[in-house]
Amino acid sequence: MGGQPREHWQSKIGFVLATAGSAVGLGNIWRFPTAVGLNGGGAFVLLYLVLIFLVGIPLMIVELTLGRRSQRNVIGTFKVLKPGTPWWATGVLGVAAAFVILSFYSVIAGWSLAYIFKFVFGRFADVAPSAIQAQFDALTGDPVMPLLWHGLFMALTVGVVVSGVAKGIERWSRILMPVLLVLLIVLALRSMTLEGAREGVFWLLRPDFARLDVAAALGALGQVFFSLSLGMGAILTYGSYLSRGENIPGSAVYIALTDVAIAMLAALTIIPAVFAFGLDVEVGPPLIFITLPAVFQSMPLGNLFGSLFFILLSIAALTSAISLLEVVVAYFLDELGWKRAAAAVLGGSSIFLLGIPASLSRGIWSGVRLFGLTALDLADYVSSNILLPLGGLLTVVFLGWAWGTQRALREIRRDDTPFVLGGVWAFMVRWLAPLVMAYILISGLWNP
Ligand code: PHE
Repeated sequence: MGGQPREHWQSKIGFVLATAGSAVGLGNIWRFPTAVGLNGGGAFVLLYLVLIFLVGIPLMIVELTLGRRSQRNVIGTFKVLKPGTPWWATGVLGVAAAFVILSFYSVIAGWSLAYIFKFVFGRFADVAPSAIQAQFDALTGDPVMPLLWHGLFMALTVGVVVSGVAKGIERWSRILMPVLLVLLIVLALRSMTLEGAREGVFWLLRPDFARLDVAAALGALGQVFFSLSLGMGAILTYGSYLSRGENIPGSAVYIALTDVAIAMLAALTIIPAVFAFGLDVEVGPPLIFITLPAVFQSMPLGNLFGSLFFILLSIAALTSAISLLEVVVAYFLDELGWKRAAAAVLGGSSIFLLGIPASLSRGIWSGVRLFGLTALDLADYVSSNILLPLGGLLTVVFLGWAWGTQRALREIRRDDTPFVLGGVWAFMVRWLAPLVMAYILISGLWNP
C-alpha cells in the first residue's frame, strides 16, 4: 500500500469532464464510423444504441460505484471489497487490457499527430481521394516515421500522467471538448450537403437487419465497451478519485450521452462523405484518414480546418490515453508503493514497445497475420471484442452477486443523493446486463 495520500478531483465538473475525456476519443471519431462501415450501417447503429442503455450505462454506474467505495485501483478494488477471493483476477484482466489497448491506440493517435503537419504544410491541397489514400499508405507503410509519432504520443501521455490527473487535464478538457463539438457540427453539415451524400445518410439511418449477424452484434457490444472506456477499470479508477457527494447515476448518463452524440456526429460526417466521393465504406481502419482530408479539401480554408481537426482529435485521444495509462499507474502506486513518475515512465515505455508490431502492421509486417488479422487489427479485435466484454461481465456479476446491489445502492445514495431508478438498475445489473453480455459474447465468438 503506497504511502502517498490519494489524489481527488478538484471539482464535480472536473470529474465529469475528465471522465467524458476518457470516453470521447478515437473510439468515437475513428473506430465508430469504421465499425459502422464494416457492419452494414443502420441496423448496427440501432443495436449499438440499445446496448448503450442495456449494458453501457448500467456498467458505468457499477464501475464508478466500486471505485468510489474502494478508493483503490482496479486490482485493489476487488481485493478490498472481497478479500481472500480470486475476484482480483478481474482486475488483472483490466490492467492487461489497458496495456494492449494503449499499445495500438497510441499508434493510431500517432497518425493523427502526423496529419496535423500534413495539413499545416498543405500536403493534401488539390489532390484526388486516391492520392490521399496513397499518402496515407506511404505514411503508415514506412517503418520508422509512424514509430516516431507513436513514441511522441506516448511521451505526451506519460508527461501528463506524471504531473497527476487533476489540474491540467481538467482545465484542458473544459475548453477543448466544446471546440471539438462545434467543429464536428460544422463538418457534419458540410459533409451531408456534399453532392451525393444523401445516400450515405440513408445508409446510416436505414436499418438493414439482414446485415445483423452475431459477429456484428459482438462488434456493437465491443464498440460500446471501447467507446465508453468500460470493462477494464478506467472508469473504476476515475471513480476512485471521487471523494463523496457526486451523483454517480446522473454523471454516468450525462457522460454516456455525450459520448454517443459525438460518435453519431462523427459517423454523420464521415459516411456521407464516403458516398459523395465514391469511396469504399468497408476499408476499415484507414477510413477517416482518407475521407476526412477529402471533405476538408472541398471546403474553403480546408487546410486550416484540417489542422484544427487533427489537433483536436489528437487531444481527444490524449485524454483517453491518459485514462488508460492511469489504470496501470494507479496499480503500481496503490499496490506496490511506487512513485507516480517511475510508474508512468516504466508503464509508458513498455506500452511503446508493445505497440511496435501494430505500428509496423501496415508496412513491413503487413504479411504477419493471425486469423487473417494484422497485429493492429488483432490487438483491436481481441481487446474490444473479448477482453473488455469479459471484464465487464465479471465486473457486473461481481457487483450483482458477490458484493451485492444493496451495498452498492447504499454507496450511491450516500449523502442523500437521489437514485429513483435504483431498483431498475439493480435488476439490470443482476440479470439483464449479464445475460445480454454473455449471450452476445458466447454466440459471437462461437461463430467467427
Ligand atoms: N473510450 C476511449 C475512446 O473512445 C478509448 C478507451 C478505451 C479509453 C478503454 C479508456 C479505456 O477513444
